[in-house]
Amino acid sequence: MATEMEGSAPAATPAQQPHDELAEIRAEVAAGRPLVGSLAARFHRAVGAIDPAATEDSLAVLPGNRGVHLYDSLIAWASLVAGDQVLDLGCGSGGATRAAARVVGEEGMVVGIDVSPECIAEATARTPAGAPVLYRRGDITRLGAFGDRTFAGVVASMVLDHVDDLAPLLAEVFRVLRPGGRLVASVMSFDHLRPMDASFMGSVLAVVGRRAPGALAGRASRASIPHEPRDLRAFKDAGLATVEELDVQLAVLMEDVDQAWSVFGRTYIAQILDAEGQEELRRVLARRMPHTLYLPVRFLRTRRPG
Ligand SMILES: C[S@@+](CC[C@H](N)C(=O)[O-])C[C@H]1O[C@@H](n2cnc3c(N)ncnc32)[C@H](O)[C@@H]1O
Repeated sequence: MATEMEGSAPAATPAQQPHDELAEIRAEVAAGRPLVGSLAARFHRAVGAIDPAATEDSLAVLPGNRGVHLYDSLIAWASLVAGDQVLDLGCGSGGATRAAARVVGEEGMVVGIDVSPECIAEATARTPAGAPVLYRRGDITRLGAFGDRTFAGVVASMVLDHVDDLAPLLAEVFRVLRPGGRLVASVMSFDHLRPMDASFMGSVLAVVGRRAPGALAGRASRASIPHEPRDLRAFKDAGLATVEELDVQLAVLMEDVDQAWSVFGRTYIAQILDAEGQEELRRVLARRMPHTLYLPVRFLRTRRPG
């Protein structure tokens, strides 16, 4: 199996640089520049550098309906077996990578790739020595380092929402999957909010609309994956089987604004706001307390036929 990724990101940056970068991006988005394409990629890079374990620490700890867990439930759905080779796309701090490694065991191997060197460092630090895991820095839209028909499973936990055009990525996923191999992914599915949660999120997004209007462009304005026609077409054109969907909810129990901020403060929603915007968001959240938000997450599963 290849271990070096092509198209790696530039070398690690001094600690202040992602904060300066984020301030610049926030100013552009506040002025209305759509948060898509390279601007969105820069934003995700900067936030990942500052808070590389945000998803694992704030979402993967939330209780899910019927015992669902963000990583373990997704990996269980992939039907992996001991000895399998698995690729984790956009591995972040490695939560899903390690969940997959527990299933494939020492005869197997899980490769986690992420564009952010800070995420790779965090994932490495959180992974026990000797685990069947390799972390590599690289871009998930360029999988040329991996051979055809290599993996029994490809995992994409909370990362497809970062990809504007799924078509080239899914074509590559098809190529690196073995026939019969599975892709499992989790995405946000905000079009499945309960009415009272839609009203809650509406007040949150009103702050974003006022303070960072460019953030309401791109994926934020589309149907959740895979329902937008171009996304559905991307799965089909890649040659992947019909996508199965499992809608689950993670419960965010918020007694007070500090509890709310421990989750919201680490989301992209808060991070696209400058300090004043974040203060306004805290005030809006405070007015809605207490509230239990059922955060809708969709698991997707498909496979390379054969
Ligand atoms: C929301 S986080 C999810 C992290 C992890 N999969 C999890 O569920 O905890 C998305 C991750 O995808 C990474 N990412 C986004 N676009 C990427 C790309 N084009 N190539 C590689 N990694 C990417 C980010 O750096 C970030 O770590």
